[in-house]
Amino acid sequence: TERGVTDEKITTGYNNFYEFTTTKQRVKDLVEGFEVSPWKVEIKGEVEKSGSYDLDDLIRMGQLEERLYHLRCVEAWSANVPCTGYPLSQLIEQLNPSSDARFVRFVTVLRPDQMPGQRDLTAYSWPYYEALSMEEAMNELTLLTFGVYGHPLSKQCGAPVRMVMPWKYGFKSIKSIVLIEFTKHRPRTFWSDASNEYGFWANANPRFDHSRWSQATEVFLNTTQRIPTQLYNGYQDFVGHLYPENDRQYFY
Ligand code: MTE
Repeated sequence: TERGVTDEKITTGYNNFYEFTTTKQRVKDLVEGFEVSPWKVEIKGEVEKSGSYDLDDLIRMGQLEERLYHLRCVEAWSANVPCTGYPLSQLIEQLNPSSDARFVRFVTVLRPDQMPGQRDLTAYSWPYYEALSMEEAMNELTLLTFGVYGHPLSKQCGAPVRMVMPWKYGFKSIKSIVLIEFTKHRPRTFWSDASNEYGFWANANPRFDHSRWSQATEVFLNTTQRIPTQLYNGYQDFVGHLYPENDRQYFY
C-alpha cells in the first residue's frame, strides 16, 4: 500500500487482452467497437439455478465493495488497482451447486467481428477459458469484478464483468465473461493448452521461475522500479492454507 494506487492512465494503456492484440499499448485503440451492453452471463453445469442472467441482475446478487488489489502478471509487471465487485462466493451460495461441483469454469465472449485478435491470432483456441477449484472460487479474495477506479470496467480491462484473483498470476483473471460453469472434473485452461510454460494453478511465487525469466522481482508500473515479488503476491494469510507450499505444480 505504501506505493499507492497506480495511475489509471497507466493501467488502461498497458493491457493483456489477446482478443484484440498482443501489443499491450494498442488494446485501448482497438476496443471501441466492442459492445458490452446489453450483456448476459450463462450459468450452467452442476448447479441448481442454471440459466441466463442479465448483467444488471448479476450485479444485484452480491454486496458490492471496493478493494485495492496488488495485481501481478506472469510476465513480471504489477500494479495497484481499486476493483469494485463482490466475492464470487456470494453468487455461488445463491446458485446452489451440487456436491459434484468441484471446479468453476469461465469463458470469455466470442466475437471475432469485434475482436481482431480472435480473427488474426489463429494459433489460439478462442474463446479464452479459465477455471478455479471450488475452494479457490469460494475464497474471500476471489472477486467477481464489475468496476475499476470507481466506475464500470473499461473495455480494455475486461468490461463488463471479469474475475480478479490477486494471489495468482494475472492470466487466471479472465475478462469479459459470458459463461460460468460448475464441473465435476478439472477443466482445461487457455494458457496451459497454448503452452506448457503455464499451468492450472499459477499462484505467484518468487522462488519458482518461469522457464524463460525470473519471478523473483517485478516491475511496478507506476514507477518502472523493480520490487521483490512476494509469495502468493502478498496474500499468503488468505490463501496459504489452500496449497502445499513447496510443491512446484501449484506455482506455474
Ligand atoms: N482475459 C481474456 N479474456 N483475454 C486475455 O488476453 N489476459 C490475462 C488476464 N485476462 C487476458 C484475460 C492477463 S495475461 C493479464 S496479466 C490480465 O488479464 C491483464 O489485465 P489488465 O489488462 O486489466 O491489467
